[in-house]
Amino acid sequence: MKSKLPDVGTTIFSVMSAMASECDAINLSQGFPDFTPNEYLLDRLSHHAHNGKNQYAPMNGIPELRHAIATLTQECYGRAIDPDTEVTLASGATEALFVAIQAVVNPCDEVILLDPAYDSYAPAVTLAGGICKHISLMPPSYQPDWQQIAAAVSPKTRLIIVNSPHNPTATVFSDNDWQALANLAEQHNLLVISDEVYEHIVFDQARISAHRYPALYDRTFIVSSFGKTFHATGWKLGYCIAPPALSAEFRKIHQFVTFTSFTPAQYAVTDMLNEYSDEVHGLGGFYRSKRDCFINAMQASRFNMLPSAGTYFALADYSAISDKNDVDFCEELTRQHGVAAIPLSVFYKTPPNSRIIRFCFAKREQTLLDAAAKLCAL
Ligand SMILES: Cc1ncc(COP(=O)(O)O)c(C=O)c1O
Repeated sequence: MKSKLPDVGTTIFSVMSAMASECDAINLSQGFPDFTPNEYLLDRLSHHAHNGKNQYAPMNGIPELRHAIATLTQECYGRAIDPDTEVTLASGATEALFVAIQAVVNPCDEVILLDPAYDSYAPAVTLAGGICKHISLMPPSYQPDWQQIAAAVSPKTRLIIVNSPHNPTATVFSDNDWQALANLAEQHNLLVISDEVYEHIVFDQARISAHRYPALYDRTFIVSSFGKTFHATGWKLGYCIAPPALSAEFRKIHQFVTFTSFTPAQYAVTDMLNEYSDEVHGLGGFYRSKRDCFINAMQASRFNMLPSAGTYFALADYSAISDKNDVDFCEELTRQHGVAAIPLSVFYKTPPNSRIIRFCFAKREQTLLDAAAKLCAL
């Protein structure tokens, strides 16, 4: 049989997590917390499962949660959205990204991706028959060059996918970046997918989203994830906010990909947003102390830590330690030194010649200190 995705193997996240567990290494590779979510959230999940909320939820998500998302959006970005026509719950941001891409990409449409790019984008474009145009963001700053991006736009370009705060580089779009994106999209009549799953995890500036740019929002699918916001990646609950016409197309596909998402979690997250929205607004501060703990502990190492402005990741340049390529170095780190990380090259179509890996610091302080102690010994 001819594969529809001949170049796709198992994602690097599964590979490195499996290696970490095989070697009993500290897993700073895959992006998930090693601590439990808020007890209240867990209690509400149990409560709703025990009180009849176990059947299909409405296809777009329960109205209570869509309203709570609209309230949160208003609080964060000062923007009123219609929960009935603009908000759709999905089974994780991964599903929302996949559905948004299928909704708008037609065969032979070109889609601009900024590498290093989250690894689910390109296969979803390929399955829709689209063609990925990769633009590389270069170390150490990973700043987008909007002239270079504009030069990649052709009459066939349909969509650009952006991600801020950015996995894996931990950079955050500036106001200039958002303006440049809005201008580009408007000038060339592009649609936009704005992957904002780390929207609440920014350290040194206010949260900025496509919501803040009304002309941009009119052509954008904004995707977010309660997995990241509430330390519950395994619940796979995300959502898409988009103008009514785009949401309508999104829903046509969502209904046949999964129809609806895990019902008790929708009720539990609604309660959490209604009772503990402070936890969302405090997320940047919560992760800032983890970032500082890890980066401070790494100062004694021979890794050169790059700045982390958002997300729960930090990049490290290991060129003072090894000449190996990043995939081999991550394997050596896991098997011989007991810490798993993610190589950056796998997020690129054409990787730059650099020696940089990604650590996840969504971990208990002791985990971070134990990992740093091992890394400082190198
Ligand atoms: C940039 C980015 N987008 C999307 C996702 C997927 O989110 P979810 O677990 O809600 O599907 C992740 C998860 O790591 C991510 O880092």
